Amino acid sequence: MIASNRPGTRLTRVQLLREIGLSPQWQLRESTVAVGATPAVTASPEAALALRGVAEKAAVAPAQPLVPTADGRAEEIAAMGWAQLRESVASCRACALCQERRQAVLGVGDVTADWLFIGEGPGAEEDARGEPFVGPAGKLLDAMLAAIDLQRGDDVYIANAVKCRPPGNRTPDPAEIATCAPYLKRQIALIQPRLIVLLGRAAAHALLGDLGSLASLRGQSFAYPARAGSARGIPVVVTYHPAYLLRTLPDKAKAWEDLCRARALMRTAKASAAESAPPSGTRPT
Ligand code: URA
Repeated sequence: MIASNRPGTRLTRVQLLREIGLSPQWQLRESTVAVGATPAVTASPEAALALRGVAEKAAVAPAQPLVPTADGRAEEIAAMGWAQLRESVASCRACALCQERRQAVLGVGDVTADWLFIGEGPGAEEDARGEPFVGPAGKLLDAMLAAIDLQRGDDVYIANAVKCRPPGNRTPDPAEIATCAPYLKRQIALIQPRLIVLLGRAAAHALLGDLGSLASLRGQSFAYPARAGSARGIPVVVTYHPAYLLRTLPDKAKAWEDLCRARALMRTAKASAAESAPPSGTRPT
């Protein structure tokens, strides 16, 4: 049994899959999803981040500033802790999105989470409540999380590419995404998740650069540069945005495949972390 996003109710996996619009047959596909079996992406040289196929276990280039700044803003943000970050985001006036927001929405969840989900930007309800994904798309996201035994706030952190609501819920433009990127990058550095799931094109754009359509990015293996000194990157899975899935039912099955792939990647990441951990009882010399 799996806890539902509605307090006091528990749903079976079959009920959950139905709730997100899938039949239980998708469960069977889980074991057949190949991890890292997809073509490596051809990142443009100017792509802001170094990308590597996760399966290659190659050293990942050190993180570069997502936005080159003349004024040191990105560097300042890169040194912030959570409290400063929260304050800085709340009072940010770095782009025009600040003009119509009720409040900036930093993110929600476990700041030591293994799982990081990144969406596009706050909508009307998120702008009013100060929490990401609390509207209809958020309900679907909660159901998607529950279908892979996850729950908002419990080993999961949810953030957005931009922290202020784009007027009329339009997609944030590339300049807005770039201006907000140092905040997202700092969140990732502080959380150090084991896996990142990018929900939709704006999130993919924020982290990977403009590499193509969402459909072309799905199923590919990416890695986000890990913390300095760590050779292995954080695996990144790109999937559809829940708001898109609400409008395009047939693609829910593809999103389910992506979630199964994400879960398999998480298992691999945990297994390799356990392998490289020193045996218990030993002390560093
Ligand atoms: N859509 C998003 O991308 N993020 C939210 O927080 C809400 C809706």
